[in-house]
Amino acid sequence: MVGIHEFRDFQRQVRLYNRKCFWPKLDSTIVIISSIVLTYLFKRFKAIIVIGVMLMYEEHVLKVIINSKYLVAFTGAGISAESGIPTFRGKDGLWSKYDPTKLASPWGFQENPKLVWEWYKWRMSMIMNAKPNPAHYTLALLEKMHILKSIITQNIDGLHQKAGSLNVIEIHGNIWKVKCTVCNYRSRLIEPPESVPPHCPKCGAILRPDVVWFGEPLPEDEWSRAIGEASRCDVMLVIGTSGVVMPAALIPNIAKSKGAIIVEINPETTPISEIADIKVPEPAGVFFSKIKSLLRTFQ
Ligand code: OAD
Ligand code: ZN
Repeated sequence: MVGIHEFRDFQRQVRLYNRKCFWPKLDSTIVIISSIVLTYLFKRFKAIIVIGVMLMYEEHVLKVIINSKYLVAFTGAGISAESGIPTFRGKDGLWSKYDPTKLASPWGFQENPKLVWEWYKWRMSMIMNAKPNPAHYTLALLEKMHILKSIITQNIDGLHQKAGSLNVIEIHGNIWKVKCTVCNYRSRLIEPPESVPPHCPKCGAILRPDVVWFGEPLPEDEWSRAIGEASRCDVMLVIGTSGVVMPAALIPNIAKSKGAIIVEINPETTPISEIADIKVPEPAGVFFSKIKSLLRTFQ
């Protein structure tokens, strides 16, 4: 727990940092003059300026983070990419090799539960051996510092919790949770099941992964908590999601409509880039390891 003295000390450090990190409100004349000067300087000293701008960039995002009143993160598969877990879309994505209608839908499961379970067993082994990366750890640190209030994640890999995050809202479920296809039995696995499909110890029917598949509604509790957090935050970090899967993709839009600042961290352009106030086109692990080093000055 952080005591009141540490909290006051933290507030004092934020004030000092704000003074140190000069980020002037520019009027239009200054913007035009600076653009001309910057264009000239850019042509002459390209490399130096790129490095300078990138440093300011991190400092700017850090400033937005530490000055936030209610910071929330919304994460997708991209945040776990540097932990070795493949994303879904893109040329090396899972959906370019596997058919989601066969492996991630209720009708696919009905048709061939063994095949679906084999696929989940493979993913479980991969996830079991995966370690969180600096992006997961930095979010956990920000929560410990009482800056980040919650993480809304579409990921089922549990890497946020492995990194130490406590307030994680899993809107697509968790790969280690199972539920019975007939009765109300629910449980949590600690390793991939030996034989598949596993059976319910209560009624003998087939168990299924307690994750959200295509065509299924999101868990009510998690979804309403996610909407609550999105409506309440003043800054939202949107990390590693393609922003195309509904209704999850509505989360940044809800935050934006309530006036939140949207910071997107994703090397690619997505539909969320259009509403983002700040776009960081870098891999999440790379970017957050820099943020984590800057944060050390506050600890
Ligand atoms: P996607 O695979 O659709 O998108 C991953 C995003 O991460 C892409 O926009 C990449 O550009 C970005 N990315 C890749 N590497 C990154 C890195 N190192 N740092 C930051 N970003 C990176 O994954 P999601 O948006 O999470 O649903 O997909 C949403 C849902 O679609 C998943 O939860 C899953 C899937 O079908 C269900 O299974 C229901
Ligand atoms: Zn049962």
